[in-house]
Amino acid sequence: MNISILSIFPGVFTDFLAVSMIGKAVEDGILTVNLINIRDYAHDKHKTTDDYPYGGGPGMIMKPEPLYEAIQDVRRDREIPVIYFTPQGRLLHQSIINAYSESTELILLCGHYKEIDQRIRDLLITDEISIGDYVLSGGELPAMIFVDAVTRLLPGVLNDLESALSDSHQTGLLGCPHYTRPPEFMGIKVPDVLLSGNHEKIASWRRQKALEITRKNRPDLLKDE
Ligand SMILES: C[S@@+](CC[C@H](N)C(=O)[O-])C[C@H]1O[C@@H](n2cnc3c(N)ncnc32)[C@H](O)[C@@H]1O
Repeated sequence: MNISILSIFPGVFTDFLAVSMIGKAVEDGILTVNLINIRDYAHDKHKTTDDYPYGGGPGMIMKPEPLYEAIQDVRRDREIPVIYFTPQGRLLHQSIINAYSESTELILLCGHYKEIDQRIRDLLITDEISIGDYVLSGGELPAMIFVDAVTRLLPGVLNDLESALSDSHQTGLLGCPHYTRPPEFMGIKVPDVLLSGNHEKIASWRRQKALEITRKNRPDLLKDE
């Protein structure tokens, strides 16, 4: 998968792309990330990418020309999804990540300041995604969250893709409790069923616990159960 990220602070992605699962995916050539500095498309010698809003009011607006040229430079007339991260977008969910993990190429736009010029949204953005009902100062963290969640679903990235497919939200439920050695820690024993070797009983126990945790923490997820 090839992901182009447009930002006025592309440097914040350097460590993120170099370590752990993402670093390995990049090293193995499963993920290619093209970091694009929007300022490189600014028209003046001060590399200005924002301006005052028409109609007045607080905050600055990201100018349309650098954004337009940066996106078009990547697209080159090809049909590539262009995702803008914004608190006004549809709420990010595992199903959205699953769908985008099938793509071969994506463009991610990180906003800053008060807003980007609306004409970029009208002309070039194909999807608007929010990572939650709160406001951050920029779209870089949402872009990292998106890239991380998509990358772990790409074939060859995780040793055991089955593990990712049984995580919270993939099944519609939250995950269940997990234990490893030792069998007793600080007086708390691993539930007997997990030591029983009976796979049917273990699966049933895990589903029961997943249901209990979901009912307690996210009853909204159970409305269709
Ligand atoms: C200060 S915010 C702008 C908020 C905007 N004025 C509004 O009311 O919706 C600056 C940028 O941060 C990013 N951002 C902030 N919160 C976000 C969220 N919850 N989800 C996705 N992106 C977010 C967006 O790229 C946004 O353009």
